[in-house]
Amino acid sequence: MFNNRIKIKELLQSEAKGQEVIVMGWVRTFRNNQFIALNDGSTNNNLQIVVELGLLNDTTLKRITTGAALRVKGNIIPSLGKGQKVELKATNIEILGDCDAEKYPLQPKKHSLEFLREIAHLRFRTNTFGAVFRVRHALAFAIHQFFHQKGFLYIHTPIITASDAEGAGETFRVTTLPLDGTAPKNDDGSINFSEDFFGKSTNLTVSGQLEGELAATAFSDIYTFGPTFRAENSNTTRHLAEFWMIEPEMAFYDIEDNMNLAEEFIQYIIRFVMQNNKEDLEFLDARLAEEEKQKPQNERQEFGLIDKLKFVIENNFERITYTEAIDILLNSPAYKKKKFKYDVKWGIDMQSEHERYLVEKHFKKPVIVRNYPAAIKAFYMRMNEGCEEGKETVAAMDILAPGIGEIVGGSQREERYDVLINRMKQFNIPIEEMNWYLDTRRFGSVPHAGFGLGFERMVQFVTGMSNIRDVIPFARTPKNCEF
Ligand code: 4AD
Ligand code: MG
Repeated sequence: MFNNRIKIKELLQSEAKGQEVIVMGWVRTFRNNQFIALNDGSTNNNLQIVVELGLLNDTTLKRITTGAALRVKGNIIPSLGKGQKVELKATNIEILGDCDAEKYPLQPKKHSLEFLREIAHLRFRTNTFGAVFRVRHALAFAIHQFFHQKGFLYIHTPIITASDAEGAGETFRVTTLPLDGTAPKNDDGSINFSEDFFGKSTNLTVSGQLEGELAATAFSDIYTFGPTFRAENSNTTRHLAEFWMIEPEMAFYDIEDNMNLAEEFIQYIIRFVMQNNKEDLEFLDARLAEEEKQKPQNERQEFGLIDKLKFVIENNFERITYTEAIDILLNSPAYKKKKFKYDVKWGIDMQSEHERYLVEKHFKKPVIVRNYPAAIKAFYMRMNEGCEEGKETVAAMDILAPGIGEIVGGSQREERYDVLINRMKQFNIPIEEMNWYLDTRRFGSVPHAGFGLGFERMVQFVTGMSNIRDVIPFARTPKNCEF
């Protein structure tokens, strides 16, 4: 009874030959008791439905309010109005769900993104979020298509784990032990996790990489695409406590191969969206232009959204070493005029102001920075040979994107058993517990590499949304876990 309907996106592309169809959707507006703008989420373009005088009684007409759900039968006819080629001349309208216009939070006017975040359960019904989430879907689909075409296996790595892959200690604990002080304790007063559900201390995963490496050393090329969790207390426009990450891992790859794949991958998924979500991008481009107009001249972005995306797929990313990046920063007018809040010198973990200077002011395009100081990167990254003493580096690479900063983090992995053990000791990684990981280095170890793309940061980049909370359906951030 319901699945004989046509979606509005398809209807709007049909020829108007008077054919009879059924559509369903939610009312956006109802003008002059005559024109309904109906939306079903398949496109931002509403279908204009013409209600002829006398088709409906007054009671029914009053129930056609913004937000109400309708089933409409009618004939597709050429539209006389501006803005659309076709419209639907209604022959029957059924109200599936009433919507009290007085109480409905979404009025047919512009709402602020902040307000819409508070009603995130309804914001899917707005043009902005319609476009954002269709683009998010398209990116996810393109990601699977890209890797599938290249013969990569999609591996589902665990969400509950006993390891902290990044070693940053920013994990959410998973436990069934009581929190009322009655949890079993060891002699030294610490919690005795051997009595916990898994018989050990466990947490939500921060990255699927380590398990991904196990699979890559059998299937050659794999990728993960799943949720990851970080208890970083960062209240910024680029951090979520729960975000999705894509992590390819490739055997027989070095850092150079890794950078090439990452660049090709990013360009592929952007191209896919440009080809398949033209209307959504045009909408988001116009939205961003409007937003930019509110800013002072000197803070505005140079490119519009679509021009920026075109530029990214048509030009190679800039590639520099960490040492070169630091030199650029030290020689920059911003540094000389003391415009940076954080100090610059070899060895620092670059702050977002530094990364943004490099991509937005200096190169004006995505930049891949490689060979970071060993001291600031994870234990599994491969030590570079022949480094000056005190300036040891690892074969790490980060991709920095205009407006976002770090979008990809990756590296060639340390495949040499002895070197890896030394690094683990330096970082106080419990070697006993990581035997499963070390087995890949014991049995047929190979050069391999991989990277992680933050999915929401990618969606931000492609949609031009400035706050990461607006590109995931229900954001989890410090002190916020609604819906
Ligand atoms: O640089 P990260 O921490 O790298 C890893 O987790 C590696 N294990 C990846 C790998 O080599 N397989 O994170 C990778 C990316 C970052 O570049 C960023 O885009 C995103 O994940 N990311 C976040 N996105 C949203 N909110 C957060 N709190 C994020 N933390 C990292
Ligand atoms: Mg990183």
